[in-house]
Amino acid sequence: MISVQVQQNKIDLVKKNITQLLALKGSRPIVAVTAYDTVMARLADAAGVDLILVGDSVGTVQLGFDTTVPVRLEMMLHHTAAVARARVDALVVADIPFAVAHDSFSSLLNAGRELMQTAGAEAIKIEGGAQMAPKIERLTQAGIPVLGHIGLLPQNYHQLGGYRKFGLSEAEKVQLQADAEALQAAGCFALVCEMIDASLAGTIAESLKIPLIGIGSGPLCDGQILVSNDLLGFSTQKVPPFVKKYTNLADQATKALKAYVAEVHEQKFPS
Ligand code: KIV
Repeated sequence: MISVQVQQNKIDLVKKNITQLLALKGSRPIVAVTAYDTVMARLADAAGVDLILVGDSVGTVQLGFDTTVPVRLEMMLHHTAAVARARVDALVVADIPFAVAHDSFSSLLNAGRELMQTAGAEAIKIEGGAQMAPKIERLTQAGIPVLGHIGLLPQNYHQLGGYRKFGLSEAEKVQLQADAEALQAAGCFALVCEMIDASLAGTIAESLKIPLIGIGSGPLCDGQILVSNDLLGFSTQKVPPFVKKYTNLADQATKALKAYVAEVHEQKFPS
């Protein structure tokens, strides 16, 4: 179903919402990508992505942190507002940063409210399994759409002692299936599964009514999400092994910047 939105005299026939994303399950794979600013959001939207995630990966990808742990709500508000100003057709989802979802419900509600009312997100993402379900149920009742996130939870970096694959042991398989079902029952409109065993991801996707969007979790999910800088090769860091680099913008940028430096030194620019 196509939604019609009237915003500032603009009639928009293609703006995506959670109902449309749900309808994509079983029809075609959902395509999601991260963006942290207006330029990337517009480029991703023009390419036809369904969902733009303002991920807390902004911390590692663009802000120079080693993990997502130092990312604060103010930073998420700043980057979400930049993406929202792109006025994209894709659904804009913003990450709830480190530990906020484990604070009181009113702190979490306030974070969701700020991300939606002040910054312009249309949904939020929360890392965590079944233990997050009661709070997520209350958020969805308050009109805040929630994208769940199971498997590798990067905000748990220090607790885990690093990043690893999930769902290899029987106990983890059972836990991840239970997490997915609890989050669906709590009202999540979709789930991200990060670095889950590929065949388990396929089993979970098949068992759910809502879409399972994978990252490093194989081809059997209902959709895929990647960090934009990783897939574009626009990074000065190592990218995870599951990433496919569709281009190498870092190399192109380095060449262009070197040409600029040389031309200024040689007084060829400005001509
Ligand atoms: O923060 C992020 O970019 C994410 C994706 C990796 C799913 O959570």
